[in-house]
Amino acid sequence: MIEPTAAAPCRVLITGGAGFIGGHLARRLLDDGHRVDLVDNLSRGVDDELLSQLRRSDRFAVRVADLRDRRSLDDLGSDYTHIFHFAALLGVQNVIDRPYDVLTENVAMVETMLAVARRQRSLRRFVFPSTSEVYAGTQHHFELPIPSPETTPLAVSPLDQPRTSYMLSKIYGEALVHHAGVPFTIIRPHNVYGPRMGLSHVVPQLLQRIVGQPDGGELVVYSIEHSRTMCFIDDAVDYLVRLMDADAALNETFNVGVQSPEVTIGELARVLCDTVGRQLTIVAGDTAPGSPPRRCPDMRHTIAVTGHEPAVSLAEGIRRTYLWYDENVFSGRQLSAV
Ligand SMILES: NC(=O)c1ccc[n+]([C@@H]2O[C@H](COP(=O)([O-])OP(=O)(O)OC[C@H]3O[C@@H](n4cnc5c(N)ncnc54)[C@H](O)[C@@H]3O)[C@@H](O)[C@H]2O)c1
Repeated sequence: MIEPTAAAPCRVLITGGAGFIGGHLARRLLDDGHRVDLVDNLSRGVDDELLSQLRRSDRFAVRVADLRDRRSLDDLGSDYTHIFHFAALLGVQNVIDRPYDVLTENVAMVETMLAVARRQRSLRRFVFPSTSEVYAGTQHHFELPIPSPETTPLAVSPLDQPRTSYMLSKIYGEALVHHAGVPFTIIRPHNVYGPRMGLSHVVPQLLQRIVGQPDGGELVVYSIEHSRTMCFIDDAVDYLVRLMDADAALNETFNVGVQSPEVTIGELARVLCDTVGRQLTIVAGDTAPGSPPRRCPDMRHTIAVTGHEPAVSLAEGIRRTYLWYDENVFSGRQLSAV
């Protein structure tokens, strides 16, 4: 982990910082004593209560900018030590409705940020989040090893499927990062969840539908047999802060997630019902097209380099997530944060 000192705090830039992972990471880095600047166009992320809290620190600033414009950060300073480039166009609906935009905008944003990274005088790390979806093509065409190590040869899903656009933009992004001539770490997040993640992910979506059902009702669960391993946001952030300065993470790629338990979406729905305290009959719905049947990262490399084992169990992570949504969203106090 990084060791900030009064003489030389890290200067960190987080793009997409008003979003889910970026917002949680910003809070942690400020708590650790660093200087943090966020950039976001607020298309998905929001300037909400969390950002208001962070603004109380004089080591924190927010800048609204659209990274599709390659000149948007031309006047930015050149003394960042770390850049986390989290801004991206993502989410199943965007990917299905706007695959061309997903491809072009994600690539444009990486190019903008690599140009910024090259201007920094003492950059220690450019952290680029790719995705677990990069393994989907291998699973589609070949035998994907599960748990999947980072060394898995990557194949591309059929190009006419909209869902391929997201993974392809991330594979291309990984390649750009490899050849940009900046010190980098690539991460491949696997189903990170937690408070303040919007409503278009499986955990908050199911929670919202469970809360809206009376006891004795039915809960239709899509892709019910598909399995995932779910990583609570605090564990993901722990991995990020350990990787950002680890010598062994320089110019390397890491899965970020948990290796177990691997649960079906149906089992996940049961945990969510139990957490909410709602007696519902779970019914199988359709299978989402292009959704990988299994997803589970091999975490040995990441654990070896960071020394961090996931600390938050599925039951505890779901409990904390539900409490946040219950207080901030389902209670009627609808925050724009979602
Ligand atoms: N959450 C996960 O489990 C997961 C899994 C795989 C990969 N990732 C990757 O991690 C990163 C962060 O994910 P997240 O879940 O926090 O997503 P998020 O949608 O919450 O955050 C992305 C942020 O980028 C901003 N943004 C989008 N377009 C922009 C633009 N043109 N200019 C400036 N800002 C823009 C959005 O407003 C949003 O705040 C993404 O790159 C995503 O692809 C996340």
